[in-house]
Amino acid sequence: LWPFVVAAIFGYCLGSIPFGVVFTRLAGLGDIRSVGSGNIGATNVLRTGNKGLAAATLLGDALKATVAVLIAARWGEGAALAAAFGAFIGHLFPVWLNFKGGKGVATFLGCLIALNIWVALFFAAVWLAVAYFSKYSSLAALMASALAAPALLIADQPAAATLFAVLTIILWARHRDNIMRLMTGQESRIGRKG
Ligand code: G3P
Repeated sequence: LWPFVVAAIFGYCLGSIPFGVVFTRLAGLGDIRSVGSGNIGATNVLRTGNKGLAAATLLGDALKATVAVLIAARWGEGAALAAAFGAFIGHLFPVWLNFKGGKGVATFLGCLIALNIWVALFFAAVWLAVAYFSKYSSLAALMASALAAPALLIADQPAAATLFAVLTIILWARHRDNIMRLMTGQESRIGRKG
């Protein structure tokens, strides 16, 4: 059990780095948590109007999980999955922000990149297609995440599929305000403020 606990804590340490908060503060844009939806993720960083910072936030929040999972994978699949879980939880509940973190979309993708690049590309393709047609980042994330666990199952990775079913439930719960806004037609569209 201990290797899994260590891998999860290691994943948490990397996953809890809030790149959106760090990058916007370094750029002199103040606290991202007082902008738009108040979320620390790339979608909300884009609402500052700075596309480069949004892209950097997406990369940082994704690749921190990729790195954690790839390093832990040296100790086997169980350790890799424990690190993925730790990184995802670290992003959502970072000790540095009083456990009030992000919604986990980029970090979810980062875990997928390390576990199955084809499923990661499939996730990105679904996200881009839904975002392109709807202009809703949250809807794109909800749709893409829901297909990740089935895709991992098809790819013959049942343990990873089980973990991603759990991560998807947490991701959806984290988007409950977005889901309410989508249902009432009040969700903000990509790139728009508010
Ligand atoms: O990645 C989070 C996204 O799905 C929604 O972000 O800022 O519109 O709540 P936001």
